[in-house]
Amino acid sequence: MQGDRRKGGKFITLEGGDGSGKSTQSRLLAEFLETRSVETLLTREPGGAPGADEIRELILTGDPDRWDAVGETLLFYASRRNHLRLTIWPALEEGRWVISDRFADSTMAYQGYGNQLGEEAVQRIHDFAVGSFAPDLTFIFDIPAEEGLKRTMGRTHDEVRFEKMDLSFHERLRDGFLDIARKNPDRCILIDATRSVDAIQQELRETVAARLLP
Ligand code: ADP
Ligand code: TYD
Repeated sequence: MQGDRRKGGKFITLEGGDGSGKSTQSRLLAEFLETRSVETLLTREPGGAPGADEIRELILTGDPDRWDAVGETLLFYASRRNHLRLTIWPALEEGRWVISDRFADSTMAYQGYGNQLGEEAVQRIHDFAVGSFAPDLTFIFDIPAEEGLKRTMGRTHDEVRFEKMDLSFHERLRDGFLDIARKNPDRCILIDATRSVDAIQQELRETVAARLLP
């Protein structure tokens, strides 16, 4: 559906469970790229464009039973399509690099594995909404579910729908992310997210420098 939109811009995604450190590391990676004179757009999902932000609100607030797995997956993809069309693709076309804190692997892990909608169902929706477009590089942050959730405990915002899911959900989604990393070895790098912020950032920078920087 969509051809290769990149004209020099690279698309990097950070994926993993809640509290695994993605937001912290995305910010630091964007700072690093700026020091290398790479114009970088830092964005996140769900959200990243006005319509996508409105859908974020719909998905993440309210009763855990508000949406079923199918409805939720369609909302994530409506939001993602909006984010791609209005934010990600235009930036890449202008030659900017894009770092997204979460992208499609989150839907596969959370809805496909966590909510047990299944890999095939999510892949079908993905193919329809996104086509063959994919990140150049994906870091998958791996951390025991309990440890990640402990890090999010202090959060006071009201977007806690998934953080409220039970521990077995978070364990399924961790296995999901591990499967995704195994099945996409060229695109995905598995990150041991239990290490220090500095150690993780160093690995990210070295990987980006080796794989993507000119
Ligand atoms: P995410 O975006 O994956 O939910 P955050 O980057 O928001 O994760 O981090 C969640 C919490 O854990 C924050 O309070 C952050 O300061 C802390 N944190 C992030 N990385 C680490 C780390 N490597 N070790 C310990 N705490 C961390
Ligand atoms: P977010 O604020 O990004 O959480 P965190 O800082 O923990 O990464 O909230 C997004 C929540 O939505 C998070 O619990 C993961 C979930 N999610 C899905 O279930 N499917 C998806 O496709 C995406 C992008 C996020």
